[in-house]
Amino acid sequence: QPPGPTFQSVTPFPFGAALSPVRLTNDAAYRQTVEREFSSITSENHLKMHHVHPEASRYDWSPGDVLVNFASQTGKRMHGHALLWHEAVPDWVKNFSGDSLAWETLVRDHITTVVQHYKGRIAAWDVVNEAFLDDGTQRPTIWSRHLGPDYIARCFQYARQADPTVKLFYNDYGQEYSSRKLQAMLTMVADFRRRGIPIDGVGLQMHTHINHPDAQIENAIRQAATTGLLVHISELDVRINPKGEANFSPTDLHWQQQKAKFTAIVRAYRTRVPKSQQHGITTWNVGDGDSWIPKFCKCTDFPLPFDKVYQKKPAHEGVLDGL
Ligand code: XIL
Repeated sequence: QPPGPTFQSVTPFPFGAALSPVRLTNDAAYRQTVEREFSSITSENHLKMHHVHPEASRYDWSPGDVLVNFASQTGKRMHGHALLWHEAVPDWVKNFSGDSLAWETLVRDHITTVVQHYKGRIAAWDVVNEAFLDDGTQRPTIWSRHLGPDYIARCFQYARQADPTVKLFYNDYGQEYSSRKLQAMLTMVADFRRRGIPIDGVGLQMHTHINHPDAQIENAIRQAATTGLLVHISELDVRINPKGEANFSPTDLHWQQQKAKFTAIVRAYRTRVPKSQQHGITTWNVGDGDSWIPKFCKCTDFPLPFDKVYQKKPAHEGVLDGL
């Protein structure tokens, strides 16, 4: 198949994918697709704490380095994901016992070490991931429990101290279906601004599906842009089997609906986010075969613009149609 227009050749903002260093090393078709199509890459898993910091006094840089080195060799932007996430807690942290000062030191040292290690090579970091619940309250996690409710701000301060120029993002999901969660994020940004807490951008994960109303997606994007910060659609995928039906088999209508949803999202981003605030759009994985969704939903789905052998689907053209 001739390449035709690629994401990176036509999108006026960075267009990225979340990557696995294992696939990048072992799967030539995956690697070629990434090289050809994307201008930004996000670490899907290997910069999360349980991977990069598996023991108290040991960091494992090598898988992350594969991604960071690939990005620098191919001239792509590297987006780091994520310094603190309640789903990525290593056992040594789960078993950690110490007073609040010891917990604070643990988190500060982790953030400082990881950000400094990649200083100058990672353009942006998701500092805290998924700190709010859908009802807009702060998510109770191991972090909030030991560090107290204001830990998010301090994480941003530690990251800024470790690298004065890296872009710092708050990343979360569901702003397009929960106005309370969207509001919680906007309120946090306003509070940071008042207090002089550093933050450069917000990430809307946008794990969505063909039946989600365009107007809600557009509203979340528009409101995120009112912060004046960078806006990243950070983990985009569009499920065509959102109810996880058994024996699901896609029809042409599904592909067309998926294509239209990608178009609507890209168009909303392009028209609602001022150019200077466009950090870009990142899909969560590359093709339907490496998507995290089937494992997550324990169902069949095909949520990405490339199929399992990395051929373009209608959704690929859908992205271009939104530009
Ligand atoms: C997911 C990965 O894709 C999976 O491989 C892993 O098993 C779990 O995490 N929101 C996020 C991402 O911020 O870090 C998650 O990534 C998907 C949901």
